[in-house]
Amino acid sequence: MKGLQKLILLACAGILITACDSEQKADNTPAATKTIRIGFSQVTTAEPWRVLFNREMRQEAAKHAGVELIIADGQDRTEKQVADVETFIRQRMDVIMISPKESAGLTGAVEQATAAGIPVFVLDRGVGTENYTQFVGANNLEIGRMAGQYVVDLLGGKGAANGKIVEIWGGMGSTPAQERHQGFAEFIDAEAGITRLVDRQDADWKQDRAYNIMSTALKAHPEIDLVFAHNHPMAFGAYLAAKDIGRETDIRFIGIDGIPDEGGNWVRSGFLTASFAYKTPGAEAIRQALKLLAGEEIPKRVELPTAVIDTASVDAYLSGNN
Ligand code: FRU
Repeated sequence: MKGLQKLILLACAGILITACDSEQKADNTPAATKTIRIGFSQVTTAEPWRVLFNREMRQEAAKHAGVELIIADGQDRTEKQVADVETFIRQRMDVIMISPKESAGLTGAVEQATAAGIPVFVLDRGVGTENYTQFVGANNLEIGRMAGQYVVDLLGGKGAANGKIVEIWGGMGSTPAQERHQGFAEFIDAEAGITRLVDRQDADWKQDRAYNIMSTALKAHPEIDLVFAHNHPMAFGAYLAAKDIGRETDIRFIGIDGIPDEGGNWVRSGFLTASFAYKTPGAEAIRQALKLLAGEEIPKRVELPTAVIDTASVDAYLSGNN
């Protein structure tokens, strides 16, 4: 971070309150009362992982006196998120956070907020610029690799794996989908015995769209051994499509997210063979932002851990997360 920007932040955190007071009052922000306003542009609230994300974030914010968290629902639309970020800039939020729908369409909004001198935290999905304060999220390339390795082992092991698979993508313009695919492909495409049946099908993270993609795939292919979906709702959608025609027990389903009372339970009840933990980043981002405002150096990237959740590990995983 540039020296001047940092100095202003320190001032706003209360260390040099008088130095920035007049400027802050002119902007009509509540720095004089020491309220820290964090504006968060959340892509959607319609998915279970997002609901958990917001809840954990609100719980963290509530632990800190004087922190006000304002969450704007992007309604799963890039234009709405751009407008929400612009509103936060006009309102002179102390911090702006965003979990973007997609990378390209929200890169400009992130750059705009940074240019306005507001610290910007990018959460879970990346953008096409380095002009932000910090990224918080899990390593999706690594998760994709873990999934690829897991599937190769499941289908017979390195060099001997054999099977027909369907991959169902999350939103193709988003970095988690791109990275999950890339990591997965590194392992899968090295196996001559593994055939991909469906090419680049984007279900935009949605259960109903995955259901439709899978219904079409089932009609076209009498043999499908495994489905890798980029999140739980899509894995479950694919499972339901197979179940509707009685083929669900022939096929293994793998997803990502590891939400305890969703994918965790689905692994336990056998709908999913495996899932990979994808922690929500909001609570950690709040802690990081408060460190920054208190004058601490914070890293450019905070990486959240993942884990494989299958029949061998699900009980330990669920007891650790409840
Ligand atoms: C929720 C979600 C998760 C997924 C993440 C990727 O909107 O689709 O299921 O892991 O976004 O950004």
